[in-house]
Amino acid sequence: MFNLIAWSYSLYIMFFFSVAIAGYMEDKYSASVIEDSSLDMLGLTRKYGYPLESHYVTTEDKYILRMFRLPRPNARPIFLMHGLLDSSITWVLSGPWGALGYYLYDLGYDVWMGNARGNFYSRNHSHYNPDNDKSFWRFSWHEIGFYDVPASIDYVLNKTGYDKMAYFGHSQGTTSFFVMASMRPEYNKKITLMSALAPVSYMKNVNAPLLPIMRNLMAISGNTITEFLPRSELWRACFRSKMTEDTCFDYMFQLLGKDPKMWNATMAPVYMSHLPSGCNLKQFKHYVQLIDSGRFCQYDYGSTENLKRYNSSHPRDYPIKKITAPVALYYTSNDNLSGFKDVIHLSKELPNVVENCLYPYKKWNHMTMVWGLEARELTHKHMVELMKKYEPQSM
Ligand SMILES: *[C@@H]1O[C@H](CO)[C@@H](O)[C@H](O)[C@H]1NC(C)=O
Ligand SMILES: *[C@@H]1O[C@H](CO)[C@@H](O)[C@H](O)[C@H]1NC(C)=O
Ligand SMILES: *[C@@H]1O[C@H](CO)[C@@H](O)[C@H](O)[C@H]1NC(C)=O
Ligand SMILES: *[C@@H]1O[C@H](CO)[C@@H](O)[C@H](O)[C@H]1NC(C)=O
Ligand SMILES: *[C@@H]1O[C@H](CO)[C@@H](O)[C@H](O)[C@H]1NC(C)=O
Repeated sequence: MFNLIAWSYSLYIMFFFSVAIAGYMEDKYSASVIEDSSLDMLGLTRKYGYPLESHYVTTEDKYILRMFRLPRPNARPIFLMHGLLDSSITWVLSGPWGALGYYLYDLGYDVWMGNARGNFYSRNHSHYNPDNDKSFWRFSWHEIGFYDVPASIDYVLNKTGYDKMAYFGHSQGTTSFFVMASMRPEYNKKITLMSALAPVSYMKNVNAPLLPIMRNLMAISGNTITEFLPRSELWRACFRSKMTEDTCFDYMFQLLGKDPKMWNATMAPVYMSHLPSGCNLKQFKHYVQLIDSGRFCQYDYGSTENLKRYNSSHPRDYPIKKITAPVALYYTSNDNLSGFKDVIHLSKELPNVVENCLYPYKKWNHMTMVWGLEARELTHKHMVELMKKYEPQSM
């Protein structure tokens, strides 16, 4: 409790001073980097010379999601799904020289990037206003997997005329895939290969120093359902001075793991400005439940509500055996948010693991495979080679 309060106060105090004193960021980082930190999907792709289309996808429960496409009509489509508190922008943030989204486009693919309900790009619903209606904020990543990912996949296949495509997921983008493919197994046949970057399902071995803070936050919030860490200008406070910058990096490394190569340090403000991009506190709660129970199961509403929803006083396990799409697992041993022991546990239950790759890089953290300086050379190339092997010979 104390930690949390101290933490939020320090952020607010830093923010206050950042308004009063500016200049550190401008002196240390290039004008182009500072410009990138305030651009969105459209601005960023335009600046680097890539075409971008924006699409609206409506789910069965009427959430309106924003999906982005680096369009290459008639080429084979690929779907990319971001992690918790992240957004589609994560696939282009590192620039044409590093980002997976641009890389796949440059290789000749039609690249589609989803956005989970509730994030910066997908705060939209046919009936509920996310700013005023609590009803909007009744979901965890279960609903993202059950509704958002299937709706996005159907939309892409419908638009492109293909009957299956490759999927790349990072972190929660893998959790939501496992939810979909186990609960709605008819979607397995729409996937050529699922590439799981830093997969998250079982969470018994998750161990991040900031976790106690998260638990306190859960305790304080009780049953309130609310938006959590929406995109804001607070990140600017981090770049007020060397001291505030070190403090922010320290918090981030505590949460994600310390890896100086997780990003191109000359671009730090670009990453810090786009993550967090908002989620629902219930997504965190659902993850914390998995850490506590050691299971990969649906949301625990308490026994009365569980009985109503699941016909059982305990939440149901996701039927992993039904995930028949080919899955490639990519993980590292220092990633405490995607514990390698948990991934190995998952790999033993998944019926169709075609690649079980524990990268031997001891420092890599939860973001390195997406943002990392060496990610393209050491991971993306290898992932794409495998993906190609699963492409049908003709459509
Ligand atoms: C919500 O979605 C509709 C399309 O169905 C779109 O016209 C509108 O601009 C969106 N609103 C926001 C705030 O994104
Ligand atoms: C896409 O969906 C529309 C409307 O639901 C349907 O008429 C059309 O045939 C679909 N196209 C493909 C290629 O599946
Ligand atoms: C990861 O967990 C291990 C042991 O559980 C711990 O020693 C280490 O400090 C953690 N690393 C990070 C970056 O949290
Ligand atoms: C790091 O980012 C800068 C832009 O700030 C870019 O010019 C440079 O090529 C990047 N370096 C690497 C190794 O990706
Ligand atoms: C609920 O569970 C009970 C016992 O586990 C079972 O007999 C019953 O058929 C289930 N009802 C439904 C609607 O699934």
